Amino acid sequence: MKPIHVVGWFIVVGFVALSSSAWSQARPADEDLPANLTSNQALMRDKLVQMNKVLEGLTQDQFADVEAASRTLLMISKATTWHVVDPSPQYTRLSKNFQEQAADLERHAKERNTEAATLDLIRMTMTCTHCHQHMRDRE
Ligand code: HEC
Repeated sequence: MKPIHVVGWFIVVGFVALSSSAWSQARPADEDLPANLTSNQALMRDKLVQMNKVLEGLTQDQFADVEAASRTLLMISKATTWHVVDPSPQYTRLSKNFQEQAADLERHAKERNTEAATLDLIRMTMTCTHCHQHMRDRE
């Protein structure tokens, strides 16, 4: 993995914590987490939490929750992109795709289009795994 500025992560985490009104509710398993979680780990775990909130919202017709989670995911992705040192062209492309998919998801949630939003969630999941695979291949 490429080194990431520590200061950058503090900005990122502060940004995400402030912007996600559902931050505290979104992390019900917090009691089970180690207290010394790094800011990086906290941020990464939040991506998983937000993806789950999207699925939860879609299955229960809670489109406002889907919208909020998609905005948070977009923000996390933008923030992490700024702080990755020396991103490969492939990383940049995947990151941009992810952000476009998150924006599509927000729009489809606003339109209450479950079908299209579900497809966005699947595309985003594919991008998660593609990028992680790409990072492993670079090591
Ligand atoms: C454009 C690239 C990219 C995308 C897209 C991406 N990630 Fe990541 N992810 C990374 C990188 C890079 C790391 C490693 C960061 C580090 O270790 O500092 C990472 C690490 C993680 C980790 C920590 C894994 C570990 O080994 O502990 C989790 C969890 C995670 N990402 C979840 C997600 C989820 C969920 C998505 C999709 C919603 C996602 N990521 C999308 C680049 C990406």
